[in-house]
Amino acid sequence: MLILGIESSCDETAAAVLADGERLLADVIDSQVAVHARFGGVVPELASRRHLEAIQPVVAEALAQAGVTLADLDGIAVTQGPGLIGSLLVGLSFAKALSFARRIPYVGVDHMNGHLLSVFLDGARPAFPFVALVASGGHSSLFHVTSPLAYRLLGRSRDDAAGEAFDKVAKLLGLAYPGGPAIGRRAETGDPAAFAFPRAWLEPDSLDFSFSGLKTAVANQVHHCQRQGEEAAVADICASFQEAVVEVLVEKGLRAARQTDCPRLVLAGGVAANRRLRAFLQARGAVEGVEIFMPPPRFCTDNGAMVAMAGFHRFQAGHGGHDYGMDVYSRAVF
Ligand code: KG4
Ligand code: ZN
Repeated sequence: MLILGIESSCDETAAAVLADGERLLADVIDSQVAVHARFGGVVPELASRRHLEAIQPVVAEALAQAGVTLADLDGIAVTQGPGLIGSLLVGLSFAKALSFARRIPYVGVDHMNGHLLSVFLDGARPAFPFVALVASGGHSSLFHVTSPLAYRLLGRSRDDAAGEAFDKVAKLLGLAYPGGPAIGRRAETGDPAAFAFPRAWLEPDSLDFSFSGLKTAVANQVHHCQRQGEEAAVADICASFQEAVVEVLVEKGLRAARQTDCPRLVLAGGVAANRRLRAFLQARGAVEGVEIFMPPPRFCTDNGAMVAMAGFHRFQAGHGGHDYGMDVYSRAVF
């Protein structure tokens, strides 16, 4: 079964071709970083317009890379939500048009379902059930996953998502957008114990997250340095901030594994590309007897391959077709 996956929920226009839910034949990503960098964040209207320019060439490139034509496709999978409405509409409308013109069935995919199946694209595959920590720019959520399409929300961020905290702190420090990779790089030469930034553990059993207090603490530290006329110790701030986020993500992920009696933990979403997070989780998992699974970094950030993977499972389960009344949604559905 040959699936074309299309992703346009935020600032990446992406398309991939996946055969039989396991062989990735093509994976093309047009990043809009250059469009949004000077604004320090994604400007929704500019994102929609860039998707509009990029979507056809990106899909054509994916088909060419895979060595297939539209006539070879068995289905089209497209991100339906959550995400930026204008961005999502470009991907969905394009998918509908292809589907209608070439009589190829299409199916809508939840972006989070894509992230938590990205681990099946490469490397060791976890058995079901597993706990999944999806840490991205829009969400920090823990799920109990019992099959490719069945997942229950265990906890979520009550305010900022982990990636959002990285992006906001980077902006505060005058670092490049997107903030995650920029902070990760600066943190490498910094001292993670230089500043004792707060960890929001919340209630003893809570699997929810909160990162806004941490963000405020970092802002106060930066302002304090400025008032004292000191050069802010950027590398130390980055390392200490990153350590605080990583520690909470890891310990809550392991707490979720304990609470659900599940010895497998999957890490996904853009923040899962963070090297410190990957190393810390691997080390703590080994101590706690929890097996850790994570996709390679290129499948952690938004991509079309994960959408094709989720779409494959949805087609297998009988979803999809030619109903063109489908709309997008901006917020998580659980
Ligand atoms: O999953 P994703 O590509 O898009 C959303 O669904 O939001 O995640 C993007 C987020 C951004 O906030 C970005 O700063 C963060 O992931 N990110 C990272 C790293 N690479 C991307 N955060 C920390 N370290 C990284 N290496
Ligand atoms: Zn994402």
